Amino acid sequence: MLEVAQQKFADESEVRVSELMLPSHSNFFGTVHGGHVLAVVDNIAYVCAARFAGATCVTAAVDRVDFHHPVRVGELLNLVARVVYAGRTSIEVEISVFAEDIQSGNVRHTNSCHLTMVAVHEGKPVPVPTLVCRTREDKARYIQAKMRREMGIKYREERDAFLSGISAMDDAALDAVINGEKSLPAS
Ligand SMILES: CC(C)(COP(=O)(O)OP(=O)(O)OC[C@H]1O[C@@H](n2cnc3c(N)ncnc32)[C@H](O)[C@@H]1OP(=O)(O)O)[C@@H](O)C(=O)NCCC(=O)NCCS
Repeated sequence: MLEVAQQKFADESEVRVSELMLPSHSNFFGTVHGGHVLAVVDNIAYVCAARFAGATCVTAAVDRVDFHHPVRVGELLNLVARVVYAGRTSIEVEISVFAEDIQSGNVRHTNSCHLTMVAVHEGKPVPVPTLVCRTREDKARYIQAKMRREMGIKYREERDAFLSGISAMDDAALDAVINGEKSLPAS
């Protein structure tokens, strides 16, 4: 088992990364491909989580991602990540993404998202340090993350029960739901 520090501070977990958006990152419309932004997000989440955990981490889940503005080729993508929650082996990292027009200096907040990273050793989850929140903002972020985690667990349980209900339906029952003659099975 790896040795890990007992406690780490949320306000010392911040990681900042900037990347110039190149033509090779563009989609058919000439703006930056959303998948590229997500890859940069995943990378910074890894750095933030692995530094906090003192261990290799894997991405277990990505919470909802909304893109508020397109990112243009030639802009600088600035990302800020911090640990907002730590469970026994998992860490939630919050990432805020900003697009900077280098010439004008204008900055747009394009999206924020939350990734759950799990510390692993030889493929198995391992304990992470306790997260200590010293500032009011970090305490609020921690409570929000705890709520997201609890809602995520409930959502996954209900989804799995719902999907097994659908799998158990015969063809006629599926048609009846599609045609609105029958309601969906309760989860
Ligand atoms: C993530 C992974 C290590 C979890 O392994 P597991 O055997 O299911 O582990 P556990 O059930 O003990 O869960 C470990 C922790 O992860 C959390 N977790 C697991 N799946 C999760 C999910 N889908 N969403 C959020 N948290 C999750 C658990 O809540 C637990 O957190 P805690 O220890 O802080 O309470 C394993 O599923 C895995 O290796 N997945 C593939 C990861 C990967 O390859 N990512 C890159 C994809 S390209």
